[in-house]
Amino acid sequence: MFNDLLPRIQDALENGGGNPGESLKKACEILQEEVPHYDWVGFYFRNGEKEELKLGPYAGDPTDHTVIPFGKGICGQVAVSNSNFVVPDVSAQDNYIACSIHVKSEIVIPIFVDGANIGQIDIDSHHVDPFSKDDEAFLEAICSRVSKLLVEAGISDPSSQLS
Ligand code: SME
Repeated sequence: MFNDLLPRIQDALENGGGNPGESLKKACEILQEEVPHYDWVGFYFRNGEKEELKLGPYAGDPTDHTVIPFGKGICGQVAVSNSNFVVPDVSAQDNYIACSIHVKSEIVIPIFVDGANIGQIDIDSHHVDPFSKDDEAFLEAICSRVSKLLVEAGISDPSSQLS
């Protein structure tokens, strides 16, 4: 499944009509529609120089968590750890921000530009323990393509420049 999806995501990222925000939203929509265990898919980006994340393009139910301080929740922890975070069962996490009672698990993969952690892709699932190493490799590949798109589009602060 992931082998077939990666070229579609790449195409969405490269052919978004020159609007990187639209391209990222399209990528979220494809992921949410096509991967059965991806129920909410979104990007968070560092808010300028502030130690907080701001919600970017996403697909799924609207969330109240449009700003997340560094260190808070799964997303905020990835902002400081610079590492993938796979949570098979969110009920086992103390430092977790609940978005919906239906969410059972979560995966967050950081996005790097020139070695700096500038944001992340965040995926919620309604299934317990659905994520494998294949998900991580797939999402890492997407994150490096997102990084390339941002660099090529000259976007240095995605939190304010994506529309
Ligand atoms: N659960 C996340 C918050 C963001 S929502 O999943 C959209 C967290 O703990 O950081």
